[in-house]
Amino acid sequence: MEGKHQLMIPGPTPVPEKVLLAMAQHPIGHRSKPYSKLQAEVTADLNWLHQTQHNVQMLTVSGTGAMEAGMINFLKKGDRVLAGCNGKFGDRWAEVGEAYGLQVERVTAEWGKPLDPEQFREKLEADTEKQIKAVILTHSETSTGVLNDLETINKHVKAHGEALIIVDAVTSLGAYPIPIDQWGLDVVASGSQKGYMIPPGLGFIAVSPRAWEAYKTADLPRYYLDLGKYRKATEKDSSPFTPPVNLVFGLHAALGMMKAEGLDNIFARHARLRDATRAGMKALNLPLLAPDSHGSTAVTAVSPLNVEAEKIRSTMRQKFDIALAGGQNELKGKIFRVGHLGFVSDRDILTAMGALEATLIELGYEGATSGAGVAAASKVFAQG
Ligand SMILES: Cc1ncc(COP(=O)(O)O)c(C=O)c1O
Repeated sequence: MEGKHQLMIPGPTPVPEKVLLAMAQHPIGHRSKPYSKLQAEVTADLNWLHQTQHNVQMLTVSGTGAMEAGMINFLKKGDRVLAGCNGKFGDRWAEVGEAYGLQVERVTAEWGKPLDPEQFREKLEADTEKQIKAVILTHSETSTGVLNDLETINKHVKAHGEALIIVDAVTSLGAYPIPIDQWGLDVVASGSQKGYMIPPGLGFIAVSPRAWEAYKTADLPRYYLDLGKYRKATEKDSSPFTPPVNLVFGLHAALGMMKAEGLDNIFARHARLRDATRAGMKALNLPLLAPDSHGSTAVTAVSPLNVEAEKIRSTMRQKFDIALAGGQNELKGKIFRVGHLGFVSDRDILTAMGALEATLIELGYEGATSGAGVAAASKVFAQG
């Protein structure tokens, strides 16, 4: 049936009708007064969402572009940095750092396991010469569904006193509390097609005053991604280059919806969606990749034992028009991932869980009792 597609991947995420309609307008000139007003309102709302008093910068890039900008604007060639690597995206930041000539030291954990904050503490404490200039990590590692312990790792960075903390919050911003100013996070990057409930195309970066100090002496090549240009423009309610005006219309509407829901409610909803998804999978005897203590509020990765992950995905797609994500790199074919990020409600989880049960029956999976997944998820929802 046409138009019944249900997107349950960790990005792009579903877009509310209100946002789609807001985008369905003629563009306006980006040097016009109406655009300037729009930019001012969007910046104020972004600052609210990021829990910061310092203007969040908005770039026409995907999440990777936002992270690359977040790294190259605050470091010098040859700088020693620690990169947390326990999945595809952590690995990516190590590669970006190396591409720009940084001296990258990987702090690793097996895919599916969280980064160990102690490893960061040891390396930071041993660095009495203060050569480590930044700690770079992925908060919600989308490839495995692991939520890394940003708060504890950040405490170790703060005890070091010199290093900046640069965070990929691409699938945690708007899905998990990240009080940027209160924790003193230096650089926090994210992308529009995730918790923001709008299509891909915009990247966001929050920058602390300490990071802006480092910007003054940073010497890596930059032009389009030079955040100083964005900072100056944002102060004047403007944009250094042509922004995707219609996406900004959508962003304005989406941020309005988020404000109406309230930050605490948004975070509680994502925690509930995660808990219900995890409870449902467990009740169906489907093993989870990430431990309960570190489950992402954006995505749950499942490693089925006696049935192929890709068969589950293709049956869900063909029979029920529900899109689940597959495994990436070394996890290709071994897991499927359920996104529960952004414009997702309790009902969406119940629908997906019911369809998953029907899929398992069709594939002859014997480990699951029919109805058990929906019942377990319902129990979580009943608790509020
Ligand atoms: C944690 C994380 N970081 C970075 C990215 C990269 O974002 P993009 O594909 O928008 O460049 C993603 C995309 O899924 C992600 O989940």
